[in-house]
Amino acid sequence: MNVKTGRFYENHSHIENCWNYADEYIQDLLQIVQLYQQHSPHPNATLEAELKSIDLDFLKDDLPKLLSSMKVGADRIQKIVLSLRNFSRMDEAEMKEVNLHDGIDSTLMILQNRLKAKSDRVGIQVIKNYGDLPEIECYPGQLNQVVMNILTNAIDALEEHLKQHQEPDNFYTPTITIQTELLGNNQAQIAISDNGLGIPETIQRRLFDPFFTTKPIGKGTGMGLSISYQIITDKHHGKLVCHSHPNQGSQFTITIPRFQPETANAPS
Ligand SMILES: Nc1ncnc2c1ncn2[C@@H]1O[C@H](COP(=O)(O)OP(=O)(O)OP(=O)(O)O)[C@@H](O)[C@H]1O
Ligand SMILES: [Mg+2]
Repeated sequence: MNVKTGRFYENHSHIENCWNYADEYIQDLLQIVQLYQQHSPHPNATLEAELKSIDLDFLKDDLPKLLSSMKVGADRIQKIVLSLRNFSRMDEAEMKEVNLHDGIDSTLMILQNRLKAKSDRVGIQVIKNYGDLPEIECYPGQLNQVVMNILTNAIDALEEHLKQHQEPDNFYTPTITIQTELLGNNQAQIAISDNGLGIPETIQRRLFDPFFTTKPIGKGTGMGLSISYQIITDKHHGKLVCHSHPNQGSQFTITIPRFQPETANAPS
């Protein structure tokens, strides 16, 4: 086993390293082919036929492009896997002090496919106004679930707005704004706003009811906000509040204590 191969196996779990070695090996092979062509410009008939059939010039031109798009794909997969791990925090069922912004960023990464531009609609702009938050005591996986539910609802509302209004792109930019701040040193707040459809007052009263949904059968179960409400109020002693004006948009505000009352380990 040569040095390269040895290192390769040591690091085999890292896509990045695998990629770098594969790239290097392929460059080496292309270099060898180049040298063969220079030094044996007149191959025998069998080789000539094979070169023609694989279209070597095209292969040499296309392979680096293919490798670079594989690299982009692998980078994306790696980011999503990391985000999923961070999002679910399966290994951390307990209360923990965490950076809330990491959880929000992982959730946005998981949702990137829904946020990006599609053939029939523009991309959704995300504005992050992150404040200076200390680590916050919470159940990270559950809190991420709440952020996911609220962001998914916001995306649905923006898509519905686009469908119903059909405004020109320069007139309306579907936007989600995420603002975080520390209130009075002991409450963390995450406000998620959208400039989507908005919610009529009659519906606002029922938002947090289990199974309440305005979405077609198969699209929504109506459990997202009801579960989120329970997670914030029961599990985190916090508040989940909605402010909305039809046709202007909606804002959902999560407020939780910096330290949970049971453990009350706030430094004096
Ligand atoms: N940002 C928003 N803009 C407009 N309407 C909203 C928004 N968020 C929630 N709603 C309304 O509240 C209803 C209930 O939301 P909830 O998340 O509980 O259920 P759902 O999204 O319909 O289904 P689920 O989340 O279970 O897939 C939605 O059907 C929608 O009518
Ligand atoms: Mg929902």
